[in-house]
Amino acid sequence: MERVPAIVLGGTGYVAGELLRLIAAHPRLRLAGVMSDGSPGAPIAQAFPHLAPVYANEVFQSQAQIEALLQRERAPAILSAAPHGVSAALIDALLGVAERAGHAPRVVDISADFRYATTAEYEAVYGHPHGAPARLAQFTCAVPEHLRELKTPHVAHPGCFATTILLATVPLLALDLIEPQLFVAAVTGSTGSGRKPVEGTHHPLRHGDLYAYNALTHRHTAEITACARAASGVAAHFAFVPHSGPYARGIHATVQAVLKRPLGSEALRARLADFYRHAPLVHVGDKPPRLKDIVASGYARLGAVSDGRTVAVMSVADNLNKGAAGGAMQWLNRLLGFDESLGLTAPAAGWT
Ligand SMILES: NC(=O)c1ccc[n+]([C@@H]2O[C@H](COP(=O)([O-])OP(=O)(O)OC[C@H]3O[C@@H](n4cnc5c(N)ncnc54)[C@H](OP(=O)(O)O)[C@@H]3O)[C@@H](O)[C@H]2O)c1
Repeated sequence: MERVPAIVLGGTGYVAGELLRLIAAHPRLRLAGVMSDGSPGAPIAQAFPHLAPVYANEVFQSQAQIEALLQRERAPAILSAAPHGVSAALIDALLGVAERAGHAPRVVDISADFRYATTAEYEAVYGHPHGAPARLAQFTCAVPEHLRELKTPHVAHPGCFATTILLATVPLLALDLIEPQLFVAAVTGSTGSGRKPVEGTHHPLRHGDLYAYNALTHRHTAEITACARAASGVAAHFAFVPHSGPYARGIHATVQAVLKRPLGSEALRARLADFYRHAPLVHVGDKPPRLKDIVASGYARLGAVSDGRTVAVMSVADNLNKGAAGGAMQWLNRLLGFDESLGLTAPAAGWT
């Protein structure tokens, strides 16, 4: 069967590497080009030695090369793993080139640039002007499991913390089980901070340690709140405390809330399982989920308990996969008319 050409932006970054890994294993996609701002011409396998078996000869391309490619051939898919503040203008430029050539690629942006409906909301959180205000209305931001009918041509992926937390919280709100006040503690691995070592997020500092950061002030809280409201119809308050975990991949979130009316643990899990009955990549289990259940996979897992008055829902997802590249691939599958889990069903390694 013919494969659909896909373009990746943000070349040497961790999320782009995961996109390249997923594209290589996807039965209906092929890599048309991968743009690198800093390393055009360098071999993919140099930045990602683990991808050498599937990209032995391919090299990163410049923006000009990607633009020439978009003029020359119809490339229906662009996946952006560029940084926020860069992605919007880059996508706008590339879409402009494709549109002038008579093509209409579909875009999934993994950065934060298209997660807000207005430039004012974006600029209030990120502190710089939006890179492509005229494109905002062309994007919808949602976890794939929480939006059946997409009305825009492009999608903004909500991100790793948001995906993990929203998978746990949206059913509680949408099913009217809880008061709209959520207390969230979530632990992320060091790949969540990207490839460039920075004092404070560098792995040697995080390894063997555990600590909270940006407690109750993390910038993704506003995105989580907006996505939860859009998906559930409830304006909830999120008290979010992120933590740095002593490992490379995965997010573990614990969500606590007060029940509106008594509900036991088994009944709670049954409600969650029923909510996700059509979601092939989300599983609700009887036991608390573990990172090893999902690391490097496109799956998320939930566990839940109730003491009759309050609930605790535990949610795990891989930050680079389900929380970024895999979630974006899931959206792209839908945009291209494929089964949403195509190329995403390989299980976690179990031992990493
Ligand atoms: N890491 C995660 O767990 C995670 C989860 C969800 C969402 N995200 C989002 O996904 C995006 C990528 O994250 P990441 O962790 O992969 O970051 P990263 O490892 O820092 O990679 C970002 C890459 O973007 C490229 N880049 C940097 N400056 C650029 C510029 N001025 N113009 C164009 N490209 C530039 C660089 O690659 P080249 O020089 O090769 O182009 C860089 O390696 C970010 O927007 C992030 O917020 C990350």
